[in-house]
Amino acid sequence: MTDFPNLDRATMNRRGVLAAGAMIAAAPVAARAAAKRANPAFPQGFLWGAATAGHQVEGNNVASDLWFVEHLKPTIFSEPSGDACNSLELWAIDLDIVKSLGLTSYRFSVEWARIEPEKGLFSQAMLDHYKRIVEGCHARGLTPLVTYSHFTAPRWFSAQGGWNKPEAAQLFARYCDKVTRAFGDGIGMAMTLNEPNILLLLRNILPPPVWDMQSQAMAAAAKQLGVAKFVCANVAGREDIDAIEQGLMAGHKAGRAAIKAVRGDLPVGFTLSVIDDQAAGKNSMRDKVRGELYGAWLEVAKTDDFIGVQNYERAVWNDKGRLPAPDGGDRNWSGTEVWAGSLAGAVRYVHGATKVPVLVSEHGVGTEDDTLRARFIAAALEGLKQAIDDGVPVLGYVHWSLLDNYEWIFGYKPRFGLCSVDRTTFARTPKPSASVLGGIAKRNSL
Ligand code: FCB
Repeated sequence: MTDFPNLDRATMNRRGVLAAGAMIAAAPVAARAAAKRANPAFPQGFLWGAATAGHQVEGNNVASDLWFVEHLKPTIFSEPSGDACNSLELWAIDLDIVKSLGLTSYRFSVEWARIEPEKGLFSQAMLDHYKRIVEGCHARGLTPLVTYSHFTAPRWFSAQGGWNKPEAAQLFARYCDKVTRAFGDGIGMAMTLNEPNILLLLRNILPPPVWDMQSQAMAAAAKQLGVAKFVCANVAGREDIDAIEQGLMAGHKAGRAAIKAVRGDLPVGFTLSVIDDQAAGKNSMRDKVRGELYGAWLEVAKTDDFIGVQNYERAVWNDKGRLPAPDGGDRNWSGTEVWAGSLAGAVRYVHGATKVPVLVSEHGVGTEDDTLRARFIAAALEGLKQAIDDGVPVLGYVHWSLLDNYEWIFGYKPRFGLCSVDRTTFARTPKPSASVLGGIAKRNSL
């Protein structure tokens, strides 16, 4: 029995999340195996969604730290975010699309820089704006999954040392309090931070010259503003990574407490970037790597209501390092291998390590080839369903992304969207892969 009878989409609460997790974990192994063979259906109340993030779709996020960094000369961003997808104005159309595809939830982020554009100055108009999006979700029967900080912060916050500064956690908590008081009663699940471990992953991936460029960019930002240090959450100098991680961890804990103080029954967690790390041969480095990339955050998640898993790839480790991807597999826009089994691998690992229910809060592929996306979604969901049948409590699947959008330093080149966006008219056009995901969602079944 893998139903989630307590998970009413619109009113999901903490008790429901925990009860669903406990029921799945308690299902006898034989029954689960039988269900696996007989039943392609996902649990009742399983959330089907698509995700966006404020800075990547809203446009003109001018009070944010990254807007400022995008416009430095020289900058590490290949192009500025500009109008993005103009979702600041067109959010209702986005919600209509989510609904029309047959999805049941929408993950979006609120922009701290809009809500608190100057330190201590909170914008009622912007709190009202995001409240309308939450209400717009409910009007369409969609569960709002809200990220409080998706990489960006107000420029003033980063200019005073960002997450490195001891005051950061308390400032973030004050913002979380304001947001939750304004519309927390309508939120389905709250995520404090998006991928606070991203710099740990990038530490292994980016070559030294890129780290040097990032350090120089941050130094240029500080110089231009006449401050001692400018620190962002996803663009940083290598030397700052450990301090940023500490700051983010304190921020998550303080933010969670602030949210809970306003609405104790709201499920709160954070999202983690998780590569499906696999071991090859004797003395594989895999477990050591896992410890470095996720260990501390998985500890924190043990006391959360759920954890968001965001997976895009796998990595195979032997005793010396990461092995090259096998020839002939699917590749994304940058030439990195994509392998559909990685989603289930990441989900199984994270649940095994934390024992808390998992929300797939991002999964997707950046590609111009939408047939690859369609194949990839269907195959990844097969694996995810198997993990569910094996007893892993998965609350939902949220695809990245609803729209082709602004992909940070890479600009508009990578295409992750279920919908393309005309860069001049902002018209959204669903791609065939959107119907593939929508079809599975409508059936709630493979
Ligand atoms: C994740 C980010 C998201 C998007 C995808 C492609 O790391 O959370 O904003 O950029 O990657």
